[in-house]
Amino acid sequence: MSADEFRKLGYQVIDIISRYYNSIENIPVFPAVPSETVEQVFHEPLPPGGQDPVSIIGEWEEKVLPYATHIGSPRFFGYVMGSVIMIGTLAEALAASVNMNSGGWKPAPSATEIERRTISWIAELISYPVTCGGLFTSGGTMANFTALQTALRNAAPYNTSAMGLQNEGFKGKFKVYMSDHEGHVSIIRVVDLMNLGRDSLRLVKSNDDYSMDTAHLEELIDEDIKNGDFPLCVVAQVGSINTGVIDPLDRIAAVCRSRNIWFHADGACGAVGRILPEKEAQYKGLELADSVTLDPHKWLGIAYDCGCVLVRDAEKMRRAFSLEAPYLRGTLLSEYTGLNYFEYGPEMSRSFRALKVWMSIKYLGVEGYRSLLSKNVKCVEHLDTLVRGDADFEALHKPNLFMYCFRYCPSTLKEKFKNIPGQLKEKTNILNQQIADEIQNSGKAFIMTSKLKGDVVIRLSVCSHRTTLNDIDMVFAALKNIGESFLK
Ligand SMILES: Cc1ncc(COP(=O)(O)O)c(C=O)c1O
Repeated sequence: MSADEFRKLGYQVIDIISRYYNSIENIPVFPAVPSETVEQVFHEPLPPGGQDPVSIIGEWEEKVLPYATHIGSPRFFGYVMGSVIMIGTLAEALAASVNMNSGGWKPAPSATEIERRTISWIAELISYPVTCGGLFTSGGTMANFTALQTALRNAAPYNTSAMGLQNEGFKGKFKVYMSDHEGHVSIIRVVDLMNLGRDSLRLVKSNDDYSMDTAHLEELIDEDIKNGDFPLCVVAQVGSINTGVIDPLDRIAAVCRSRNIWFHADGACGAVGRILPEKEAQYKGLELADSVTLDPHKWLGIAYDCGCVLVRDAEKMRRAFSLEAPYLRGTLLSEYTGLNYFEYGPEMSRSFRALKVWMSIKYLGVEGYRSLLSKNVKCVEHLDTLVRGDADFEALHKPNLFMYCFRYCPSTLKEKFKNIPGQLKEKTNILNQQIADEIQNSGKAFIMTSKLKGDVVIRLSVCSHRTTLNDIDMVFAALKNIGESFLK
């Protein structure tokens, strides 16, 4: 492709993206079509020869956008997916143009130093020691994996790098602790990847507010020690997936310190909430964690993919992940003075994820992020007020950060099934699922359900910088209308 042709196509692409950003607040959030329809759109043979780039790019608006889910919409409330700070979109194009491989210093000198700097900014942002190590990962799951693998390699009573988990002399089992309700499923993936076995996970009871019950944590740990097992790591939630709760970090830190256990803080969703002055007290103890997970592709509005892990002692990461191969280094060891990220985490080849984070942080600054995050917090508090002010809805927890769950449970239904509680529960569960499905299909908003204490609940994760209080009013009214329509 000639430079001239590239420039023309590039302008075309920028126009497409600008049109998209101009319309994002008004387009249906989700394409409610069967998966077969989408499959058919892309059902075409392997191109035998090259095609015209103008028409290839034209397919974006023709075929891709009509069947996209618009995560950047102000009314996308599913999972935990942030909407992209627009300068990050440009960062992605710039990073791809040079295509540095951030696995090593030699293929990526400036990318490596930008990553090093950005990691230290992120540590500062959440008041974690800036002397920590850390890197960007594909997401929270890999960040959690990196942290727990670092824990295993450094805290185990024998050399697990050499011997793995098969050691005749070690009869116990490694144990990982997280809370039974709000502990995140990615930790199951992590213990799978580490081959610790799912039985290694010890589920700690939760308090009424869904935070970890640390007295029960201590009981479990002491029981495991008595049985000859090895308590490896406690995973605390810092902004949990359903209720946004933050576990009692300082108490968990004390439990871990007293028994020499690795303390990991899973702040994939909520660690950055540390910058909000009104939330600061809840984060006491985060600075004591041995490692922290924080997903820029969630609440920092960074494009997929971008997770991040911080480890208090960078040397421990190197001990866990360092590798040697003659082709990874220059012939003269002395010529290699830079930081090689492949030695600090599981990935060898790595994209230049740091650029989009670096640019977004520079663009917004701490103040800019603080005001975006507090806008989301206000939206969730407003939603809580609406729910509590309407007798047909049930509030289920105190709002915190940007996650909120509640139920539609109208008086007509309660009256009808007042003597058959089992049926009331079942009907309410079905009704709430129907409401979420219906609003998704309408394209007005993307809302999903989850479960709190076994009941189906409507769950909103409000982490888009575009969401306003008006969106919350509109969505709440729509949910109520839909609910009423199912009762007719
Ligand atoms: C608390 C928590 N930890 C980890 C993860 C996993 O993150 P990812 O999907 O980026 O792998 C999530 C995802 O929602 C999460 O909420």
